[in-house]
Amino acid sequence: MLDFLGDLRRTHMCGALRASDAGKKAVLMGWVNRRRDHGNLLFIDLRDRTGVSQIVFNAERDGVIHAKAGALRNEYVIAVIGTVKLRDPNTINPNMPTGEVELVAEELRILNESKLPPFLPSDTALTNEETRLKYRYIDLRRDVMQFNIETRHKVAKAIRDYLSAQGFFEIETPFMTRSTPEGARDYLVPSRVQPGTFYALPQSPQMFKQILMISGFDKYFQIVRCFRDEDLRADRQPEFTQIDLEMTYPQPERVWEVVEGFLTAAFKAAGSEIKTPFPRMDYDEAVRLYGIDKPDLRLPAFIDIRDCFTPENLQELAINANLPVIAIRTPNVGELSRKERDDIKPMFHSKGGAKLFEDFKRIGNKFPDAAAAIAERTGMEESDLIVLIAASSPGSSAQAGPQTALPAPPLPVHRKVTPQELAIYASAGLLRLALAQKYSDRHGIFKKTGDPAKDFRFLWVTNFPMFEWDEGEKRWNAAHHPFTSPHEEDMPKLESGVESLNDPQSPLSSVRALAYDVVLNGTELGSGSIRIHRQDIQSKIFRALGMTDEEARARFGFFLEALEYGTPPHGGIALGLDRIVMILTGAESLREVIPFPKTARAVDLMVDAPTPVSEAQLKELGIAVKK
Ligand code: AMO
Repeated sequence: MLDFLGDLRRTHMCGALRASDAGKKAVLMGWVNRRRDHGNLLFIDLRDRTGVSQIVFNAERDGVIHAKAGALRNEYVIAVIGTVKLRDPNTINPNMPTGEVELVAEELRILNESKLPPFLPSDTALTNEETRLKYRYIDLRRDVMQFNIETRHKVAKAIRDYLSAQGFFEIETPFMTRSTPEGARDYLVPSRVQPGTFYALPQSPQMFKQILMISGFDKYFQIVRCFRDEDLRADRQPEFTQIDLEMTYPQPERVWEVVEGFLTAAFKAAGSEIKTPFPRMDYDEAVRLYGIDKPDLRLPAFIDIRDCFTPENLQELAINANLPVIAIRTPNVGELSRKERDDIKPMFHSKGGAKLFEDFKRIGNKFPDAAAAIAERTGMEESDLIVLIAASSPGSSAQAGPQTALPAPPLPVHRKVTPQELAIYASAGLLRLALAQKYSDRHGIFKKTGDPAKDFRFLWVTNFPMFEWDEGEKRWNAAHHPFTSPHEEDMPKLESGVESLNDPQSPLSSVRALAYDVVLNGTELGSGSIRIHRQDIQSKIFRALGMTDEEARARFGFFLEALEYGTPPHGGIALGLDRIVMILTGAESLREVIPFPKTARAVDLMVDAPTPVSEAQLKELGIAVKK
């Protein structure tokens, strides 16, 4: 027989009782976390989101309620009325905030039973993730999940408060809308009233927030769900949350100040101090020093050691002396066994003509002068691992195919970096991260130190290329999105570039965007830009992207039209809330900080979505499903 809650009110949370409460009456409610039966004494650890309190049922004091408590099992929901008592000194638990007291039960109400769960919230060994996601309500009862979700709340609240105080209005934008070009596929929603037509769920509120600037709201923000049908990874979910903002008349630096301000507030709310302003780096420099557009500053940058070798050395090594010779330094890896050295090779994936040239110690034995120069240049310690990446010299048997056959590099080619150089930087960038991951236990760089200056390495990456060449389609794509403004001084290149749209050497290749990313520990937290506020320039960009005026009108007509009605200069950014919380809590994946996430196959295992729908529903929508 279960009891009713009736008008019983909770007086304390389970984590709240302290020695100073001794002698007071208390009413606690929560889940049975653990029970220990010592004959006449039955102990229950009662849990809610604030912690655990020990309840004692004493048969000598009250046989009836002791007997009733005998029925309690894990995860039963109960209410206990009792008196707080100091524990005997030898039973004090210094590891629990409530460990000095216990509640002596005088009345027990069993509010609900629980089936035996597939795993217990108190289990230390984690069951497989599928079970966790299917029984997410049990999983979310675990301390670490409660902490992650609480941190998420605190971060969102701090950001909301900060931006509101800075004069930003939180304004909602539609979920049932048109396609927004952010580079992923859309999730579509069929219209019943107009069969054969579809809404798209927003990949971001990009066009709406720009229209809000045209509408006179001056400063907008929204903590908003976005939807993207793309390949999922640990840091990507099909629905995720952006901290999205837009403001009028900004320079990039003004947007950065706002972001640094709200991140400071958010990290503080989660118990960490961060240092602002964040360092800034040009896209070109990021590529040259880290081989990636989101450098993890916790690890050393590349060093070009081409001039540590004599021309004869380079010839003997069959290294192309006209291209960078990159040294990747992974600190404190220690002596590697022969097998471990051989294991590095398969970790290397060449983009284009780049080649892995042994590790430094092997080269060092052969070329002692070069080795000494490299050691001095890189400032390496004896325990560091140094690996070299370079291009094979032209004509050598090791050369990886003709330069024209380069596979598309993973980063946009840009003015100061040639495709051949880019291939080397990008290959080295991937290996740098792979080595750092593989030896993370040895170097310990990724372990939290408690010093935010070391744990949280923020960076602004700026001056991205405006366009990236699509080798497959033989045309230019927007590197950020097509609403991003080119640099004022690069506008003439835009004019001439439109004349050579299908040419990878077009002047479009060197147009810089007023775009910026905020990066934290090698993860892109956010992206933004100063926007195009003039219709003539916006039309030119669409043309550069290979869209005819008609096509642009068909896709973005409403937006182009809005630009013609007095659009002020404006700009903004969006940051991934999930990613911020993931890094703050040290979680390995976004699934640990999103209450109800989806698997890598975009499935919600708890509600079992997506599902087929009835024929009747499809018919109403005018949809036939091809089997
Ligand atoms: P962007 O597409 O770069 O820019 O997205 C901004 C930030 O949103 C987060 N993010 C994601 N997080 C989890 N799962 C995903 N699938 C996912 N996709 C993106 C990232 C990313 O940095 N409208 C522009 C912003 C602007 O220009 O103002 C935009 O959406 O943290």
